[in-house]
Amino acid sequence: MAALSLGRGVSRLLGCLHRASAPWRAVSGRIRGAPDAAQPGSYLALSAQAAREPAAFWGPLARETLVWDTPYHTVWDCDFSSGKIGWFLGGQLNVSVNCLDQHVQKSPESVALIWERDEPGTEVRITYRELLETTCRLANTLKKHGVRRGDRVALYMSVSPLAVAAMLACARIGAVHTVVFAGFSAESLAGRINDAKCKVVITFNQGLRGGRVVELKKIVDEAVKHCPSVQHVLVAHRTENKVPMGDRDIPLEQEMAKEDPECTPESMGSEDTLFLLYTSGSTGMPKGLVHTQAGYLLYAALTHKLVFDYRPGDVFSCVADIGWITGHSYVVYGPLCNGATSILFESTPVYPNAGRYWEMVQRLKINQFYGAPTAVRLLLKYGDAWVKKYDRSSLRTLGSVGEPINQEAWEWLHKVVGDSRCTLVDTWWQTETGGICIAPRPSEEGAEILPGMAMRPFFGIIPILMDEKGNVMEGGDVSGSLCISQAWPGMARTIYGDHQRFVDAYFKAYPGYYFTGDGAYRTREGYYQITGRMDDVINISGHRLGTAEIEDAMANHPAVPETAVIGYPHDIKGEAAFAFIVLKDDRDDAEKVVEELRAAVAAKIAKYAVPDQILVVKRLPKTRSGKVMRRLLRKIVTGQTRDLGDTTTLEDPGVITEILTAYQKHGARRPAK
Ligand code: PRX
Repeated sequence: MAALSLGRGVSRLLGCLHRASAPWRAVSGRIRGAPDAAQPGSYLALSAQAAREPAAFWGPLARETLVWDTPYHTVWDCDFSSGKIGWFLGGQLNVSVNCLDQHVQKSPESVALIWERDEPGTEVRITYRELLETTCRLANTLKKHGVRRGDRVALYMSVSPLAVAAMLACARIGAVHTVVFAGFSAESLAGRINDAKCKVVITFNQGLRGGRVVELKKIVDEAVKHCPSVQHVLVAHRTENKVPMGDRDIPLEQEMAKEDPECTPESMGSEDTLFLLYTSGSTGMPKGLVHTQAGYLLYAALTHKLVFDYRPGDVFSCVADIGWITGHSYVVYGPLCNGATSILFESTPVYPNAGRYWEMVQRLKINQFYGAPTAVRLLLKYGDAWVKKYDRSSLRTLGSVGEPINQEAWEWLHKVVGDSRCTLVDTWWQTETGGICIAPRPSEEGAEILPGMAMRPFFGIIPILMDEKGNVMEGGDVSGSLCISQAWPGMARTIYGDHQRFVDAYFKAYPGYYFTGDGAYRTREGYYQITGRMDDVINISGHRLGTAEIEDAMANHPAVPETAVIGYPHDIKGEAAFAFIVLKDDRDDAEKVVEELRAAVAAKIAKYAVPDQILVVKRLPKTRSGKVMRRLLRKIVTGQTRDLGDTTTLEDPGVITEILTAYQKHGARRPAK
């Protein structure tokens, strides 16, 4: 009982944290254990409580924020040494009921989604009632075609209300969705479908992006040739064009029209799987991270509300694709659980021109705008006039995600787009974390925000920096490996089908801690700045890729026995891939081979994964034990050749001059972008 009353206090406080009048002070006495320095009920006090008493903090919040069929009996049961993570055990609920039915009961005609279609000015509004109906029809269609609780369904769809309904339809019947970004190749799609053993794929005949047609169904056809688990492909229509339909293809809209607009929701356990989402690691094929029901939803909803200062009636816009975790948490689950109006952005930032985002902000009166630094860097090159032309007075919060935001981009977003009056939040998180972990807000009321810094951990996130030897680094002005020492409800639970890989990837480097793969710097004030990946993962335009994946995609070329890929800084993309390749027998058709390699990467992964630069070298820099020293290649490409570090383990130090000469010649022909 004590915990419950404390909890009511907590959630009320959280609800008020952003408001200027700060009525939370009135109930501040309920927060126990706050550090002396912290105002009771303040960000610091709540953070301290979330860290010290996770059950008392999260338990009541979950009870009050979510709609349950059966209450949970245990708030959390987690152990980082075995990778065991469980929240709200014993509880039962349905995520689609939380995202739809509860709002339909209160205000069926409020707008759930505004679909900002590729063609500007043709937006479509979908109410909560309509979205529930579409979701139920789609859920019934899935059931009719054999999809049962626990079955996996792949979505290869462009950003659209139907794609959101497909995600929620899976949630409604207890099926597990895995959304594959509709820019991935047939081979990548097939790899994911096979790993997840999906029974059904949902797609569109075609997609539209930046005025261009994307042949979604054709790519699915190519992929499912190699996917024995797939029984049906449900094909919806985004364009008027007809595409060939085969035996296992089903016209989705026609089937949905026959189905009932109601569908009884499955009652799911808190820890049943909600979705899989594949992401790249430093080795091996992309891993299917498993997110579950209650903890994920609670965390997405709470971070959506508190980091962005979302208030009822706001129009929230996250321009990420639903194929990434950002789209899952901040286009779909977080906003819909909060009953928000969420924008679905189908287009690109420069279609039909560089004013697209801001014209949309004006037309749709957007209050929060959340996007990627890569787009900001691109747009600032087009000049301020494209921004200033449009009225942006509705904007209150601007958000950045996916990669470090450099000072210039931050300042431009803040000053030009936000007229120096909007709150700008640089949010750090990962597919694995489920939701935002470090961001400038929530904070003490009106606390400072520093450019290019994620700054403050969200409630329940305890960041730790480790030195190279695995010692916890105390104090400020230090850099180390970013770990998190305590479980939070939104984190991934495992890697689909390979729990040991989950343990090895995240809990082995620093036993007892979750290792993020990122490095970070902590200021004297205790703020965090992310410094970038510490492993062989690179970030191209905010899209995460393992360098090993790109190397693998090139590995089958008969003329190329060896490759090494590194990331290097790129003005717009943040990072780009640079491939060093060795040719067999001094072949003289290097340019042809290079073109074939580019095509191979596009076919095996995606177009964005194709290296910007490919350089033929005689050999790679290897240690005596045969390991490629990518560190040296990075130094060469970034011009840090005076400080190559320890090269004593190289098998033949002469290789450095050899590669440097080749690089300089190559540079003269094709300057690094
Ligand atoms: O390196 C970090 C970078 O993106 C990685 C996570 O990528 P992904 O799982 O695709 O999720 C991206 C969207 C949440 C991180 O390990 N990253 C993400 N946000 C930031 C960032 N790097 C610096 N600053 C950020 N705000």
